[in-house]
Amino acid sequence: MGLLLDAPIQRCVGRFVPAPLPPAGTFDGQTVLVVGATTGLGLASAVHFATLGASVIITSRVASRGDAAVRHIEEAAGPSRKGDISCLELDLESYASCTSFMAKLKSSLSGPAALDVAIMNGGIVNSHWEESPAGWERTIQINTIGTTLMGLLLLGWMREGRGQRTSPAHLTFLSSREHLYPDIDQLTEWSHRKDGILRQVCSKENWPGGFWDAEPNYAVSKLLIMYTIEEMTRLARGPDGVPLVIVNSVCPGMVKTDIGRNISSRSWFHALCVWLTLVTTAKSADSGARILVQAAQKPVENHGEFFSYWLEGDQWRRKAEPVIYSDKARALQKQVWKEIIDELKAHVPELQHAGLDGL
Ligand SMILES: NC(=O)c1ccc[n+]([C@@H]2O[C@H](COP(=O)([O-])OP(=O)(O)OC[C@H]3O[C@@H](n4cnc5c(N)ncnc54)[C@H](OP(=O)(O)O)[C@@H]3O)[C@@H](O)[C@H]2O)c1
Repeated sequence: MGLLLDAPIQRCVGRFVPAPLPPAGTFDGQTVLVVGATTGLGLASAVHFATLGASVIITSRVASRGDAAVRHIEEAAGPSRKGDISCLELDLESYASCTSFMAKLKSSLSGPAALDVAIMNGGIVNSHWEESPAGWERTIQINTIGTTLMGLLLLGWMREGRGQRTSPAHLTFLSSREHLYPDIDQLTEWSHRKDGILRQVCSKENWPGGFWDAEPNYAVSKLLIMYTIEEMTRLARGPDGVPLVIVNSVCPGMVKTDIGRNISSRSWFHALCVWLTLVTTAKSADSGARILVQAAQKPVENHGEFFSYWLEGDQWRRKAEPVIYSDKARALQKQVWKEIIDELKAHVPELQHAGLDGL
């Protein structure tokens, strides 16, 4: 069946027929970190992991939201899980917050082997231009640069634990099918400018922000994170090429969450469009979060793969050819990685001690 038919059918099936969850007790004795779990997919996945036996650490930017999420997870997962859910503060928009979170995480666990799964879920859709404290547009700062920093800090530490584990730990990133949509010619043109591609993507002048462009930079932020995930996939391998941590990425499809809040706030028309889209196409957060549970169980053979309800394996590779595998995309990927690593090395000295040779 052609791609044209596959996508709507698979989306429809994914919406009305939730993927099965693994048997009770699958995550017994394991520790799962879910970054950005106060609401939406992060919260729903934390409930799944806790219900399946894991001790769950969630993150929040605001303590009161984190506490409310912990209570929700404990109630949903049942009385036996009380005390096994905790929350640490983390703001992906701040380099200092990422490094202090990492220090707190390390001191709260017995060692690197104790972290079995890390889900990099936190992210935003922004519909108006805002600058982050580090001087980048916020969507790119949070979804791409901050997520890459946190991914690298976690990866370096989790790699260290491989020797004391029977199998590799998992590091999973929330991407989106929207990484397939950016205009790669425009990005390539920007990559040749003197100040680099990130500056152009983040500049106010280049912010599209037209009436119909509801989520500028979201798709680009997800393409750029696919580019850095590729490097993290490489860095996760040991000297013999075997992955010490299994890295992968997922798209849960359209999910009924509050991620469109910034779009809705633009006008009643945008709010209506968001509402209609969710009502007609979106699955529940419980259903969407199941793909995260699946990703956390993928075998080492699937290291580096992208999973979604409607597109994966060779089908995804064919669709992704222009933005991921073409010569133009390869050059862009290298440039993006270099710029992000230069930015992080300049502002986050802790990265040098992250245990990642070849960074
Ligand atoms: N919903 C969909 O249809 C869909 C589809 C594809 C991919 N995704 C991806 O799935 C992920 C979760 O989306 P969602 O739909 O569940 O959105 P959501 O309901 O808005 O939840 C986003 C989560 O990210 C956290 N977060 C936001 N900014 C953060 C920051 N600066 N630092 C740390 N955490 C931050 C939020 O926590 P706070 O309480 O701290 O704000 C919240 O827990 C995102 O990466 C999104 O791109 C969603």
